Amino acid sequence: MNLPKNEKIKVEFKNVAKQFGDRVILKDFSLQIPEGKTVVILGGSGTGKSVSIKCLLGLLNPDKGDILVDGKSVVKLKEKHQYNLMKKFGMLFQFGALFDSLTNWENVSFAFLEHGMDRDKAKKIAIEKLALVGLGKHVADLMPAEISGGMKKRVSLARAICTNPEIVLYDEPTTGLDPITADTIDRLIVEMRDKLNITGIAITHDMQSAFKIADYIALLYQGEIIYYDTVENTKTTDNPYVKQFINGEENGPIDFFSN
Ligand SMILES: Nc1ncnc2c1ncn2[C@@H]1O[C@H](COP(=O)(O)OP(=O)(O)OP(=O)(O)O)[C@@H](O)[C@H]1O
Ligand SMILES: [Mg+2]
Repeated sequence: MNLPKNEKIKVEFKNVAKQFGDRVILKDFSLQIPEGKTVVILGGSGTGKSVSIKCLLGLLNPDKGDILVDGKSVVKLKEKHQYNLMKKFGMLFQFGALFDSLTNWENVSFAFLEHGMDRDKAKKIAIEKLALVGLGKHVADLMPAEISGGMKKRVSLARAICTNPEIVLYDEPTTGLDPITADTIDRLIVEMRDKLNITGIAITHDMQSAFKIADYIALLYQGEIIYYDTVENTKTTDNPYVKQFINGEENGPIDFFSN
């Protein structure tokens, strides 16, 4: 699918290939991600979703192809440029991944504290970000162990947006949450997009969540994006690969054991 003309492309994967030894993971991965929209990348376990994200962050180098952010290649950047690129990104890790030994506000402002920001200032920003995800001031001084799993996810989300990133990567944002908490997180992701014009790239196996947060849905299969369309079209698609994935069926064109 070509993106509608009114979309401005924020991130573009161009024919990216990546293999480890003789195992080809990404073969010809191309995807355009529009600014201020959320794209969900679907794909079976081990198909290379995380590898593609790592290539975008410069943690892995593609063997072939290019990745552009704001029209500029981000492949093989020198250290200083890599650092500037990282400032554009926020990351919501699977399972939250908060530091247990830090308070919630220290977790949220971690990047600032690392760079030596004054603690009072860093705390003030953290409290503002916590408010954005619906958490009150009292949560700031608590430890992650003292709050629920859903609240931890919110703290993680506050951390992901703390530095005002332009692009946020969500890795399994709702995995392991009960449906109500998952719905709250989904709504927050949509709200962040709308309030802060965040470009989102999300990986999820949770189709309900995908339909709620996505503007566009892409399916990665055998190293390529074989499907890309709006969420509305995806709900009624005839594409057998997508249908199999959405319905979680064992029988269909996707061979889940080919990896
Ligand atoms: N640094 C690496 N060295 C060697 N192989 C790797 C490396 N990183 C990933 N792989 C392999 O690449 C394949 C794709 O991994 P990746 O983590 O991208 O899968 P995924 O699509 O994110 O799966 P999941 O949904 O389970 O998270 C896997 O087979 C994995 O073993
Ligand atoms: Mg992964």
